[in-house]
Amino acid sequence: MDAVKIGLLGFGTVGRGVYRVLENHRRKIIKSCGADIHMEKVLVRDVEKYRNVFPNISDLFTNDPYQIINDPEIAIVVEVMGGVRPTFDYVIDAMKNGKSVVTANKDMIAERGEELFETQRNCGVDLFFEASVGGAIPIVKALKESLAGDEIREIVAIINGTTNYILSKMSLCSADYEETLREAQQNGYAEADPTSDVEGYDAARKLAILTSIAFNSRITFKDVYVEGISKITKIDIRYAREFNGVIKLLAIGKRTERGIEVRVHPTIIPSSHPLAAVNDVFNAVFVRSNAAGELMFYGRGAGGLPTASAVVGNIVEAVNNFLHRDRGRIGCTCYKREFLLPMEEIVTKYYIRLLVDDKPGVLASVAGAFGRNSVSIESVIQKRSMGEVAEVVIVTHPAKEKDLQNTVSLLKTLPVVRQIGNVIRVEGEF
Ligand code: NAP
Ligand code: HSE
Repeated sequence: MDAVKIGLLGFGTVGRGVYRVLENHRRKIIKSCGADIHMEKVLVRDVEKYRNVFPNISDLFTNDPYQIINDPEIAIVVEVMGGVRPTFDYVIDAMKNGKSVVTANKDMIAERGEELFETQRNCGVDLFFEASVGGAIPIVKALKESLAGDEIREIVAIINGTTNYILSKMSLCSADYEETLREAQQNGYAEADPTSDVEGYDAARKLAILTSIAFNSRITFKDVYVEGISKITKIDIRYAREFNGVIKLLAIGKRTERGIEVRVHPTIIPSSHPLAAVNDVFNAVFVRSNAAGELMFYGRGAGGLPTASAVVGNIVEAVNNFLHRDRGRIGCTCYKREFLLPMEEIVTKYYIRLLVDDKPGVLASVAGAFGRNSVSIESVIQKRSMGEVAEVVIVTHPAKEKDLQNTVSLLKTLPVVRQIGNVIRVEGEF
């Protein structure tokens, strides 16, 4: 029987998962490929550490990437080491040496996708990256191939498990952000440095990848407007619930008549929206397209085995393409350059929580600030009186971001406004 040799760059959470999935499902994979998949070498930094922990495969470990990249026997390089540098150089060199590449690396694809796909095309190899978005969820292939004949209007996604876990817990336990983050770190759900997750950067990278495919136009991390969840309080969560809503960190990509919107921010959505039921560390991608209508993809967005499921699926496809001399068939699908709508031009509804003086005429002057900036108010509720101060929650009709920001600036200058508690965008019909 043929054996196709692969080399792994990295043997951490995902790399080990890949090894286990390949071992556990070996017989099934042989049937799917008509060939065995043989792990030939594994790149790590600290070879001795890995040799001690994995004595049965100790001779596979190397700290020289070019033992894999320059090995003529290796057909497929599986990049699960992460980071942009030096990983990008290794992947480029591997493709230039005629190897197909499977990667789980959202940072590298979101930042250097264009150069990677140019090399992939020139070299006639495969470059697959299913696990870079949504872990186990087969969303890249769905957008790139299954929906290739449709036109995607909108992607609304929960693609960061850490923040979804935190927001779900805050909602369930009426807990504060800081307290929930600490608990998530203690339980291993959040990293010691949670910045990339909680500030929305991780979701923004994944959104850049999804929207590049969905809208056939290269969108990078820098193009995405990003706002994280660190300002969300349990009070906002409680008020959202009173409107029959929940707060989620949404990654939104929309095709509008004025351009493409790409944004990541906390959003209040109706509790009837399919994404409202996505809790804990789970991810989900809601897609609206012309012909298919509404679709939703749901699953585990991280973890060794779930992520490895997507990586190994790509390896099997790359092996099949290698054996059938059919590599490079599916490359970059960014064949046009769409106009990206600046954030200040987007139109959505807003929730604004204010602390104001509790005396006659205050609501009129607050409402005036909205009116002067052409922002129409849908509802105003005075929530709590605390001595001389009252908490007021305002929900607007759809308004331009620029007008809303001008309203907030004006509110800050009003003597009756003590504090702007929070401003959260609202999507959907309540
Ligand atoms: P990880 O646990 O930190 O493992 C990284 C591995 O790569 C380690 O074996 C490390 O070796 C090796 N490595 C890193 N830099 C290296 C270098 N310069 N030279 C040689 N070896 C190097 O990472 P991970 O969680 O498996 O993530 C891997 C990739 O998958 C990342 O791109 C990540 O974004 C993506 N991903 C991860 C998940 C997840 O749930 N973890 C989900 C989806 C996608 P040493 O231990 O010797 O340093
Ligand atoms: N840190 C990511 C998350 C998982 O919390 O979803 C890896 O992409």
